[in-house]
Amino acid sequence: MTTRHFRVWRGDDEGGELTDFDVEVNEGEVVLDIIHRLQATQAPDLAVRWNCKAGKCGSCSAEINGKPRLLCMTRMSTFTADETITVTPLRTFPVVRDLVTDVSYNYEKARAMPAFAPPADLKPGEYRMQQVDVERSQEFRKCIECFLCQNTCHVIRDHEENKPPFSGPRLFIRAAELDMHPLDAREDRKELAQAEQGLGYCNITKCCTEVCPEHIKITDNAIIPMKERVVDRRYDPLVWLGRKILRR
Ligand code: SF4
Ligand code: F3S
Ligand code: FES
Repeated sequence: MTTRHFRVWRGDDEGGELTDFDVEVNEGEVVLDIIHRLQATQAPDLAVRWNCKAGKCGSCSAEINGKPRLLCMTRMSTFTADETITVTPLRTFPVVRDLVTDVSYNYEKARAMPAFAPPADLKPGEYRMQQVDVERSQEFRKCIECFLCQNTCHVIRDHEENKPPFSGPRLFIRAAELDMHPLDAREDRKELAQAEQGLGYCNITKCCTEVCPEHIKITDNAIIPMKERVVDRRYDPLVWLGRKILRR
C-alpha cells in the first residue's frame, strides 16, 4: 500500500475547481478504484458515472492528466511514483456535476441517423452476406459509446458552434458501416454524411482513432473510405451526366 496525490475536479455547470486528495493505492488498482475509495473515505458526494468496471459499458470516460481515458481501464501502475494524478470531466460536453458530463449531444446525433433499411422483399432470416462484409461491420460494432473520440475531436472540442453541423467520428463509423453494408437499401448515405453530418469538417487528424479503447480504426477504415466514396460519387462522369440530364 502507498499513498498517492490526486487532484479531482469538483463543481457543476456554473463552475468548479481542482481539489487535492492524498489517497491509499494498492497493487493492481485502476483509477476508478481510487475514485471509489475517495467516495468511501473523503468525498462521499463525489459524482462519477460508471457501470461495468470492465471497459465495456463506456460510462466512465474522463480525462486523466489531460488525456481522454476510461477510468476503469487506466492502471495506477502506468504513473510514476511521484506523479500527481489529475482527473477532470470530459471537456467537450457540459458538466452535470464533478466527473459526470451531459453526453446527450451524441444521442441526438445518433437519433438523426437514418436506421438500417433492408430491402423490402427480404424477410428476417433471409439476410445473406459475405464474411468480409460481416467482419467490417463487426469492427465498427465493437463501439462501446464511450464518446472519447467525440470528446477528442478538435472540430467540436473547443468549438461549440460546430456541434450543430458535425456528428463526429462515432457517428461517421455508423454512417460508413451502413453505407458499406450490402443489405442496406438507402442510396443517399454518402450525401447525408457530407451534407448533414459534417464529414467535410474532418481533416483526418486521427486523434479520434488514437483514443479509442476498442482500437477501432475510425479514420482509416471508416472516415477515409467515406470521404473517398463521396468524392467518387461527386466526380464520377456517369453520375455527373445523369445529374445534368435529370436537371433539364
Ligand atoms: Fe468510444 Fe471508440 Fe466508440 Fe468512439 S468509436 S465512442 S472512442 S468505442
Ligand atoms: Fe476529428 Fe477524427 Fe477527423 S479527430 S478531425 S473526426 S480524424
Ligand atoms: Fe464500464 Fe468503465 S465502468 S467502461
